[in-house]
Amino acid sequence: MIRFLINQQLVELDDTRADLTLLQFLREHRKLTGTKEGCAAGDCGACTVVIAEPTPQFDGLHYRTVNSCITLMSAVHGKQLIAVEHLTQGNTLHPVQQALIDFHGSQCGFCTPGFIMSMFALYHQEGTPNRDDVLHALSGNLCRCTGYRPIIDAALSVCGNTPDDAFSRNTPSTLSSLKQLAGTPLLGTSNLLVPDTRAALAHAIALHPDALLVAGSTDLSLMFTQQLKDVSTLISLAGVKSLNGCTANEHSITFGATTPLSDLTQPLLAHFPQLAELITRFASLPIRNQATLGGNVANASPIGDMPPVLLALNAVLHIDNGTQTRAVPVDAFFTGYRQTALEKGEWLSAIEVPYLTQNELVAAYKISKRMEDDISAVCAVFNVTLNNGKVEGVSTGFGGVAAIPASCEALNSALKGKQWASSECLNIGKQILSEAFAPIDDVRASAEYRKTVLANLWHRFWLEHQNTSQAGSHSSNKIETRVVQHA
Ligand SMILES: Cc1cc2nc3c(=O)[nH]c(=O)nc-3n(C[C@H](O)[C@H](O)[C@H](O)COP(=O)(O)OP(=O)(O)OC[C@H]3O[C@@H](n4cnc5c(N)ncnc54)[C@H](O)[C@@H]3O)c2cc1C
Ligand code: FES
Ligand code: FES
Repeated sequence: MIRFLINQQLVELDDTRADLTLLQFLREHRKLTGTKEGCAAGDCGACTVVIAEPTPQFDGLHYRTVNSCITLMSAVHGKQLIAVEHLTQGNTLHPVQQALIDFHGSQCGFCTPGFIMSMFALYHQEGTPNRDDVLHALSGNLCRCTGYRPIIDAALSVCGNTPDDAFSRNTPSTLSSLKQLAGTPLLGTSNLLVPDTRAALAHAIALHPDALLVAGSTDLSLMFTQQLKDVSTLISLAGVKSLNGCTANEHSITFGATTPLSDLTQPLLAHFPQLAELITRFASLPIRNQATLGGNVANASPIGDMPPVLLALNAVLHIDNGTQTRAVPVDAFFTGYRQTALEKGEWLSAIEVPYLTQNELVAAYKISKRMEDDISAVCAVFNVTLNNGKVEGVSTGFGGVAAIPASCEALNSALKGKQWASSECLNIGKQILSEAFAPIDDVRASAEYRKTVLANLWHRFWLEHQNTSQAGSHSSNKIETRVVQHA
């Protein structure tokens, strides 16, 4: 059974299709048609809803947006689902709705419920948002007729005050209802299993060996919503608490595989602060609220953004089958186009990233057409270790240039022992990278463009890191992320 609140009302689902999305549930089961379907692919934000969940201490609620068109019912177990219909109290509009009217932020209105929900989640966040915060909050919402300025102005005018609405007033009773739900067993439904422990997960896989695993569903759902494939049984990882979270020791930081990207941002940036731009440009905020790091890795997409980072940082993947665990270096994990080293009955349980030493120079570059919510045409991550100004080793990770997330060992062998500041390092690197891969032509970029960009990114990386090349003088762990758009 999946139990959750829709607004303040308890819902218990014990039999649903495995692939039922929140959007279908709202529109078809509940006739709540204020939430719109635009793309059914997580791209437009017309379907944005808010999920509220208790903070770990149960002393407040955390409101986050998701794209309901690609989010499965398992995501709301033990939580509160809020759709646009729930905001108005009688004839009184919610403050964010009134602000959108006052600032003339809606024309045809198709995108409006989605923007309202993103503004509603921001309204409930602590602190006063600046323009950048508003842009991030609205990064998953497209509007095709109003223009963004009035919408941004509306959000700036109303968010940042202490929330004063029915939701803030009802917080104690919502928390008490959610506390009761948290105490009930998480069983899922007959088609959508939601095991809550490692052993229960292994058992579910043994009972349904052909069922697909699902974490945030931001990739997997496209199988139903875009390719219209049937799926009979899914096993959700969302209920296994041990898979979610982050631990750090003196050598490394480890992320549970189902940690959503928006939750790992803060701990990741505490150790690698200059990854900030790459992380905030990964999809959009509603996608990052659902998308997990493990899903990005296990999906083995050649254009995923985190595999190149993990390759260059020499991450280690932890794999489990319920009785045994094993550790696999990330460069041994991707075995073919969308194929991985995971064996039957196994799942990815955690991703461990070692800290940088003082002598490592690192930068990550994402080339894409749009700032927000766009897949990389090329992603390149370089990690050069220096010793007394000479190259000791080069680790790299690339997306968009091969059938799998790839690294370039030839660069490492050719540059080892060379003086970093020498033009030899620049030119050999450019030459090797322009020939290392045979990328494809596709809608995002031509093969020629990708090859040229790789060589140019090496040039840029080399230029940007010349002042740090003196005899291991690099004094702090440093990752630099540069995000470049097509001209
Ligand atoms: C609009 C949009 C924009 C996007 N933008 C980006 C982007 O900018 N960069 C980017 O890299 N990606 C992007 N993505 C892709 C996607 O969001 C990411 O790949 C995400 O990290 C997938 O995580 P998930 O938890 O949603 O995976 P899911 O969809 O739940 O699963 C993906 C696959 O991994 C498997 N899986 C998941 N977790 C595990 C596990 N722990 N063990 C074993 N198998 C597992 C599932 O069986 C499935 O095959 C975008 C997607 C959308 C819809
Ligand atoms: S309908 Fe477009 S993001 Fe959901
Ligand atoms: S008001 Fe028409 S798409 Fe935004």
